[in-house]
Amino acid sequence: MNLPSKVFVNVKIYLKMPRRRRILATLPSLAIIIITTFFLFNIYVKSQSKFTSQTAATPHDSHQPKIQFSLLIGILTRADAYDRRHFLRLIYGIQSSAIAKIDVKFVFCNLTKPEQKLLISLEILRYNDIIILNCSENMNSGKTYTYFSSLPGILPHRYDYVMKADDDVYLRLEPLALSLSVKPRSDLYYGFVIPCPSMNPFVHYMSGMGFVLSWDLVEWIRESEIAAKDISGPEDRLVGKWLDMGNKARNRYSNKPAMYDYPGTNGRCSHELIPDTIAVHRLKRWDQWQNVLNYFNVTRQLKQSKLYTI
Ligand SMILES: *[C@@H]1O[C@H](CO)[C@@H](O)[C@H](O)[C@H]1NC(C)=O
Ligand SMILES: *[C@@H]1O[C@H](CO)[C@@H](O)[C@H](O)[C@H]1NC(C)=O
Ligand SMILES: *[C@@H]1O[C@H](CO)[C@@H](O)[C@H](O)[C@H]1NC(C)=O
Repeated sequence: MNLPSKVFVNVKIYLKMPRRRRILATLPSLAIIIITTFFLFNIYVKSQSKFTSQTAATPHDSHQPKIQFSLLIGILTRADAYDRRHFLRLIYGIQSSAIAKIDVKFVFCNLTKPEQKLLISLEILRYNDIIILNCSENMNSGKTYTYFSSLPGILPHRYDYVMKADDDVYLRLEPLALSLSVKPRSDLYYGFVIPCPSMNPFVHYMSGMGFVLSWDLVEWIRESEIAAKDISGPEDRLVGKWLDMGNKARNRYSNKPAMYDYPGTNGRCSHELIPDTIAVHRLKRWDQWQNVLNYFNVTRQLKQSKLYTI
């Protein structure tokens, strides 16, 4: 470090000065030294932090799969369905995907009972997985429209895909992510096409059990007059109708047989459980959930312990 040259000039004059004046004369030089040291230290700290943040950002493990896209799964339910939320948090909390960032959130209309404010506030504090829309909880009164049209205005960031799912469906996140990973990221409408036996995703609409829209279509619904003018009726059919009328969703995929209704519950929309499942719908009873979760060996990962016998 080069000390300021001022310090060394006129040493003779300096030595002749009375003591008090000597101290005073030293002050500017001292100040310069302190300021210089401070700046050099700052530069050093900044270069260090730059170095560490750069190393943190570099992918260090090439075996780790890359996150390819983000997906919001909104499970449309009712505020009072506390037990269902508890159960579904378990179901989705023990799943993950290595290739997608997946957020699962519960979606309902505005609260109507005093105790809901307390209980749901507690849930938000604990889980932060709730979206309360500005709507009232009547069947076919535009909740799906409110869901999609509100999202761009209320979410802190966009997602590549947004799903609407029922609260009686079992979704397997990794097969779902694998299936979406090879699909287009825009103009996409993906699900289980109705009518049941149909294999043509361009005729009619995707079942409300669980369908996916790409983010551009969510934004389109928010802005579209077509959607805004046509919000009452069977919600899932309306989504298909808007997209048809708007000449949207040129990328459509109906994922049969990976998505279906639980065996024996809904005619040709149902079939037996199969290994390559993405969604099983119409799970209304515990024995149905039990069969499904056992079939997919969901609790097989449980480790032996002296703490419990199951
Ligand atoms: C909620 O919706 C009603 C109409 O249904 C509207 O009058 C009100 O301004 C909305 N509130 C908010 C916070 O957006
Ligand atoms: C609930 O939603 C309805 C819109 O359907 C709105 O008119 C009403 O003001 C909302 N209530 C509250 C408390 O936000
Ligand atoms: C569940 O585990 C059994 C026994 O290991 C196996 O035969 C079966 O294929 C597994 N089921 C699925 C859907 O992976």
